[in-house]
Amino acid sequence: MALRNILKLETDEAALRKRAREVTLIDKRLLTLLDDMAETMYAANGVGLAAPQVGVLKRVVVVDVGEGLIELINPVVVYRKGEQINIEGCLSVPGKNGKVKRPEKVIVRARNRKNELFEMPAEGWLAVAFCHEIDHLNGTVYTDKVIEYVDLSKIDDENQEGGDAE
Ligand code: NI
Repeated sequence: MALRNILKLETDEAALRKRAREVTLIDKRLLTLLDDMAETMYAANGVGLAAPQVGVLKRVVVVDVGEGLIELINPVVVYRKGEQINIEGCLSVPGKNGKVKRPEKVIVRARNRKNELFEMPAEGWLAVAFCHEIDHLNGTVYTDKVIEYVDLSKIDDENQEGGDAE
């Protein structure tokens, strides 16, 4: 396993704006990518990471909102319901946080590292993380959707849950 360099919007916008390609083969190289992405996410204290953020244009995402590591290959949101507004951050946009509207509940269909198709329902913060990361696969960064930027240092502890970097 190895840490990968996380691209930043400020300096690597062209790469982060590209659409990632479907994974057609889950080989050793892809498993290494998954391992490296998880290691990189944890090292950066993030709750999610998409392959384009480490310069790999493949539809691969890792997420851990504190409930364990979830790996998604070729993820698609197949159901969405309701809405929620949370404060998001992004490992590719360090030092910034902003309010974004997302569905309250989603169901994501994806493949796991064994090439098995599965569906995973998510709500709350996990739904946010899935939507944020899948956006990255389409070249969309949360800053495109920000309602307003928030200075986390001026927010009291009650609302401090948001702002995790993805
Ligand atoms: Ni992000």
